[in-house]
Amino acid sequence: MKETMHKADLNWAELPFDYVRTDCHLEYVYRDGKWDEGRVVEDDTVTISVASTCLHYGQECFEGLKVYETKDGRALAFRSEENAKRMAYTAKKTLMVAPPVDLFVDAVDRIAKLNRRFIPPYGSGAALYVRPLLIGITGTIGIKPSKEYMLAVLATPVGPYFKSGLKPVRLWVEEEVDRAAPLGVGDAKLGGNYAAGLRATYGARDRGYAEVLFLDSKQHKYIDESGSSNFFAITKDGRYVTPKSSSILPSITNKSLIELAGDLNIPVEHRAVEVSELPNFAEAGLAGTATIITPVYAIQHGKKLIQYGGPNDVGPVSGRLRDALLAIQTGDAPDPHGWTHEIQLD
Ligand code: PLP
Ligand code: COI
Repeated sequence: MKETMHKADLNWAELPFDYVRTDCHLEYVYRDGKWDEGRVVEDDTVTISVASTCLHYGQECFEGLKVYETKDGRALAFRSEENAKRMAYTAKKTLMVAPPVDLFVDAVDRIAKLNRRFIPPYGSGAALYVRPLLIGITGTIGIKPSKEYMLAVLATPVGPYFKSGLKPVRLWVEEEVDRAAPLGVGDAKLGGNYAAGLRATYGARDRGYAEVLFLDSKQHKYIDESGSSNFFAITKDGRYVTPKSSSILPSITNKSLIELAGDLNIPVEHRAVEVSELPNFAEAGLAGTATIITPVYAIQHGKKLIQYGGPNDVGPVSGRLRDALLAIQTGDAPDPHGWTHEIQLD
């Protein structure tokens, strides 16, 4: 058993998914063609030019991943190289310069170690959420890519994403607002995508639904994803179905579930999913770092209400997948795919 550092005085079991200020963040700067060593900043502000491209032209993207404490007090990061690669993909699409994978992975470990007293205790249901942020910081007024970039990395302890905790939620199928265009940037993790979806998310919440389910913006025929997560469903004969679309974020959680489904002999269909198929499914759910696997018990599509059970019903296949994923993330089960790595806290 590792000696546990004195933990922050927080009510871990009641933590919402929100920002809690921690001891420090990291700032790495790309200038003159190279990344620096990064510096530890105790203040939680960032100082940049008022003319920075991130502020005017949306050269801003981010990543999100979780660090869990294990039963014996170790800290495990989940697939941070995948987040690094996705940041590189987003950066390429928007003419930004991404940090090398090694730098990114090391920065995640470094911020978790520096803020280790904020890693929620094993069994609390909470995790340390690491948020690497890439911004263009060159001051310019013409529309052009930045020459200099900052990778800022913060860590904050989080609980469940939805107010209902890990309980099943209801979704609202959005038909008035599109999140992303088929040849646009919906598959990149740009802050602008969240701004585009915000009024739909809040429209759904105002109607009493936890989340919005976006459709493809060309035909409004296929399911894309929700504002915070990928969507999946389980067919009546037990197959895992999840939308394939050029305008959704390639979720690392969903990618992992697809592999876990394979391990559990659950057949997988990664394909375009018509919204008209919703009533045929036996279970539905959301998959993402923040939402983990949140079961969906009802979906409102126009006047039609599709139900998969009651507000306390977790479908058997969704439940198995969630347990299998969480067991790997928290070190309770072996990690045959090598998805987690231990962060050296000493
Ligand atoms: N889709 C959107 C729009 C998201 O914001 C997220 C969260 O990152 C996901 C899907 C899930 O991706 P991941 O599992 O990599 O967190
Ligand atoms: C995540 O799951 O990490 C996300 O980024 C989703 C949302 C909180 C923005």
